[in-house]
Amino acid sequence: MIADPENRADGVDAATSSASAGPPSIRIGVFTIFPELIVGFCNHSLLGRAQERGVLKLEVADLRSHGLGAHRSVDDSPFGGGAGMVMRPDVVVAAVESSSAPRPVFALGPGGRTFDQRCAEELAATDGFSLLCGRYEGIDQRAIDLACDDEFSLGDMVLGGGEVAALAIIESVTRLIPTVMGNAESGTDESFSTGLLEYPHYTRPAEFRGIEVPEVLRSGDHSRVRRWREAQSLARTIGRRPDLIDKRGGLTDDDRRLLAEFGLGCSDPVDGS
Ligand SMILES: C[S@@+](CC[C@H](N)C(=O)[O-])C[C@H]1O[C@@H](n2cnc3c(N)ncnc32)[C@H](O)[C@@H]1O
Repeated sequence: MIADPENRADGVDAATSSASAGPPSIRIGVFTIFPELIVGFCNHSLLGRAQERGVLKLEVADLRSHGLGAHRSVDDSPFGGGAGMVMRPDVVVAAVESSSAPRPVFALGPGGRTFDQRCAEELAATDGFSLLCGRYEGIDQRAIDLACDDEFSLGDMVLGGGEVAALAIIESVTRLIPTVMGNAESGTDESFSTGLLEYPHYTRPAEFRGIEVPEVLRSGDHSRVRRWREAQSLARTIGRRPDLIDKRGGLTDDDRRLLAEFGLGCSDPVDGS
């Protein structure tokens, strides 16, 4: 199954580069044995709208198109013994090399470098890239060495396959493409974009189960709201992700003054309103 009506026989569409006129766009290729998982998810919500508008050009290739025998087999037992199966290098390399999906190609696996918001920002500034989803015990190392440029991990956990990691990457990258998020969903002060976690959000009702929305957010004083949010963002990051505070070189005098203005020292209690 494929994402675009103009697909080639091998399951990868022949979309051209996003360098042409029009809004900024990105091509993302995915190699997987479960193309319908990728296509189905990406047809909804923000990614679905991005595809409709031609901002996201998804090119999903079914690795089984290059599988062997009547069953289109993509895996075999591991040399050296052990449990499970391994994805064959001939199948994977044939799928990648015969496709016009965008480069670089990133393998997905727990041993890759951890994907974060910086990676998303860097990829969102490119014309495109492709992701190779493993299954079983993983992909034969020769396929990764020969067909891939780098490897990404979603984090220190083991997934059953690369598809969920691919979808996380596709979504985090695509939402950073200009015009994909409206003003109302702007990502400029989101978690990590400023090196901090985001402040807490509130909507109606103003009081729920005895818990009131902080007074400052209902005050109409926009400058104070902005400072409160900055202070909350700092306090939350200090409490939950001190590594991010270290990364930005600790707290400045301004940071300390801001925290003090709202009676915040560390952790993330919503007070000081
Ligand atoms: C069951 S996992 C293989 C795990 C491997 N045997 C290991 O212990 O490192 C199968 C596939 O899921 C994907 N996968 C699993 N965990 C992942 C993670 N943290 N990040 C990205 N992909 C992951 C990879 O594509 C991997 O080839």
